[in-house]
Amino acid sequence: MKVGILTGGGDCPGLNPVIRASVRTALNHQYEVIGIQNGWKGLVENMTKPLDIAAVSGILHRGGTILGTSRTNPYKDKHALEKLKVNFKALGLDALITIGGEDTLGAASKLYKDGFNVVGVPKTIDNDLSGTDFTFGFDTAVNIAMDAIDRLHSTAESHQRIMVVEVMGRHAGWIAIHSGIAGGADLILIPEVPIKMSEVCDMIKKRNERGKNFSIIVVAEGAKFEGSEVTVEKKLDEFGHVRLGGIGDLLARKIEEKTGFETRVTVLGHIQRGGSATAFDRMLGTRFGVKAVELVKDKKFGQMVALKGNEIVSIPIEIAVGTLKTVDVPFYDMARSLFG
Ligand code: F6P
Repeated sequence: MKVGILTGGGDCPGLNPVIRASVRTALNHQYEVIGIQNGWKGLVENMTKPLDIAAVSGILHRGGTILGTSRTNPYKDKHALEKLKVNFKALGLDALITIGGEDTLGAASKLYKDGFNVVGVPKTIDNDLSGTDFTFGFDTAVNIAMDAIDRLHSTAESHQRIMVVEVMGRHAGWIAIHSGIAGGADLILIPEVPIKMSEVCDMIKKRNERGKNFSIIVVAEGAKFEGSEVTVEKKLDEFGHVRLGGIGDLLARKIEEKTGFETRVTVLGHIQRGGSATAFDRMLGTRFGVKAVELVKDKKFGQMVALKGNEIVSIPIEIAVGTLKTVDVPFYDMARSLFG
């Protein structure tokens, strides 16, 4: 049996633990394993490297992915897709473990429907994939954001300022809401709930009335201002996404204008994706990696590993990529009850 592994989309803490666990489990079954480099691009361009025990030694605690990644969408270009399919066969792959988020797994689901043996592993710091309670990388991102919020508290208080913290989360406010609650933010703004400037200003004023002359506001990069996302550039990537960024700055300007309080903004950006994974993400990644090889062994192709409660299960990849998992109203209302 020959198994390929690829990592696609944005990198994410926990990718190396998945690769390590998949390789070690596959080797235990005497399978041959190869790494496909730089996501789908590597399968189109036939960039591979052997993955033996030495190749995955010492990578558990390392951030990023030893395989490299890209946001290449093979279904965007007929010619590239043809090359990918030819390479899949020429490499003699009996199965491909695809580690990715909605875009990478969306392509994996199509490839499975086109007759290729694919299994999926869900990855994203945004935690917005359906069918799994959590994706690895999310816990690390939340902890990094929480730590930043903790640190911003003391400087906000010393200067009596409003601090706006912009966190990642393209379509879903999971990072904002978890880090915001854990860090004691006074307001959390997410893509699922349109921003109301009156609510933002009221919160700041009410806090001021009770003697709190500083506030921390966490905003997800995808939060909508007057109905629209704020973007760095409108150009779409291969999966049709714009590059988000700027909501923190915009919000800070509006707050100063409307309340007169001095306001600063901190954009956490890719710091949330860099470096070592937390113990939770290393565990989850490891369990996913082991299970992915079990799916290959049992020929359960078209399936994705998933966390349900404390069990690692499998579900059709198609279900995971069908609809995004976003923050629901009751959960946001719970967070709202702690604002101010
Ligand atoms: O999908 C994960 C994510 O980190 C999003 O939160 C963010 O919008 C996007 O990736 C950033 O992508 P890039 O690394 O390509 O700038």
